[in-house]
Amino acid sequence: MSDKKTGILLLSHGSRLDEGEEVIKAYKDMYVEEFPEAIVEYGFMEIRKPGIPETIEKLTSENDLEKIIVVPVFIAHGLHTKRDIPKLLGIESDFDEESVSGHHHHHHDHDHDHGHHHHHHHDHDEEEVHFDGEIVLTDPIGIDKRLYEIIKDRVSDSL
Ligand code: NI
Repeated sequence: MSDKKTGILLLSHGSRLDEGEEVIKAYKDMYVEEFPEAIVEYGFMEIRKPGIPETIEKLTSENDLEKIIVVPVFIAHGLHTKRDIPKLLGIESDFDEESVSGHHHHHHDHDHDHGHHHHHHHDHDEEEVHFDGEIVLTDPIGIDKRLYEIIKDRVSDSL
């Protein structure tokens, strides 16, 4: 029987502010608390370290993994989850470039503003994911009644 294991990467967008890291770290800590044997780390797709390649390096250097499950902790699919994250992970994507018609340059059709985006993309370009096993990129959070309950709480707390 193989001793090879599965690693988990909780992937956040990344921000220059600390709040995003506090949130993704808290989810990682919750996961480890519930599953103490779990091999789980958090990382960021851009702007903040650790990025995708170094997080995968951390997971694989400390464990003999055959599979890594990457959970994008994003509400919905977007260009990041459909195109940019698969590219950074070095995995296949069914993203159709034609679906974002009129945009031919990846770095400029971003759907939100990052002041130093170019620098970060160049940072990432210098690193590559080195992993011989299987990488599974899951769907984002999506539509879920549990999230809807939180939305209602936010409104009712502010009434
Ligand atoms: Ni972004």
